[in-house]
Amino acid sequence: MEDHFGHRISYLRVSVTDRCNERCAYCMPQELQEWLPRPEILSYEETLRLIRIAADLGVTKIRITGGEPLTRRDIVDFIRQVPRIPGIRDVGVSTNGTLLAREIAPNLTTAGAVRAVGVRSLNISLDTLDRNVYAQITGRDFLPAVFQGIEASVAAGFEQIKLNTVLMRGRNEDQIIPLLEFAASQNLILRFIEMMPVSTTAVLSEQNFLPVAEAKHAIEARYGNLIPEPTFHTNGPATYYQIPGREQRIGFIGAMTNLHFCDSCNKLRLTCDGKLRPCLGSYLEFDIIKPMRDGATDDELRQFFLDVVDRKPQQHDFRENYQPNRKMIAIGG
Ligand code: 5AD
Ligand code: SF4
Repeated sequence: MEDHFGHRISYLRVSVTDRCNERCAYCMPQELQEWLPRPEILSYEETLRLIRIAADLGVTKIRITGGEPLTRRDIVDFIRQVPRIPGIRDVGVSTNGTLLAREIAPNLTTAGAVRAVGVRSLNISLDTLDRNVYAQITGRDFLPAVFQGIEASVAAGFEQIKLNTVLMRGRNEDQIIPLLEFAASQNLILRFIEMMPVSTTAVLSEQNFLPVAEAKHAIEARYGNLIPEPTFHTNGPATYYQIPGREQRIGFIGAMTNLHFCDSCNKLRLTCDGKLRPCLGSYLEFDIIKPMRDGATDDELRQFFLDVVDRKPQQHDFRENYQPNRKMIAIGG
């Protein structure tokens, strides 16, 4: 699948739920608290069918996201099916980390189970190391559980674990260095993400926006000039650097300030309620659940994917101060 701008689509992000056990303001603001009714959510069978169709069309990488994907019932049994789909070579999970240490069988944590069914990489959200600030940002006092979750994940032996930090002025700029040292101590990749206007207008303001360039300056003031790693890519639009004199890699996701952010976009998103989105930062979304439930054939669904890719915009609309009327939590970050 290729769009009009030469973007090769090989990566599908799959949101399996809009529900979450946390309440991050930038993702699901207080006024939007209603969950989607269960019948509107794709069943696992439906989701697997759509992943199969995407794989037929050249998708090789799947990321399971939410909401918090680990809150959905039987999620591990679902994930087990994904790497078995012909063509799928890489499966990752994005999580808030709070449930990873939970034991689901004697001596088996959720992290261990997710690893055992073939997930190679884990992205764990971590905006601060301060328990009080964590509770303010997420609405929940779950930081100790996240630390346990990170420990369980390291023990589970994932090929790659990334920590994701959403930058917020006045909330976590003092955490940039501590988070970096924490990531170093755990041997994990840390990435700083610019806040995107994905939920409501109140979330992103001039006052709370913290550009990645500022985080980079703070880091360079402390450790010296970062060494660019133009050849290191995960699957997204992050740019990576090495800390001088260390084996540590960090990344920046400059969704708002990096004007080339969308140049190498390889993504499509499937929302938990069965909409295909060619871009996170665009109004465009296409309802695939309806034709599927109305009996569309695989061929027709393949054509649906191709038509969506055809409509993929050249870049996102975030800079035009666009505020999609849709929760990040439903789209999948
Ligand atoms: N801007 C940037 N990142 C966000 N995330 C959720 N909402 C936003 C937003 N408005 C991030 C989460 C998590 C990932 C799934 O998406 O922190 O790391
Ligand atoms: Fe939940 Fe993640 Fe959204 Fe926070 S950012 S509310 S942890 S889905």
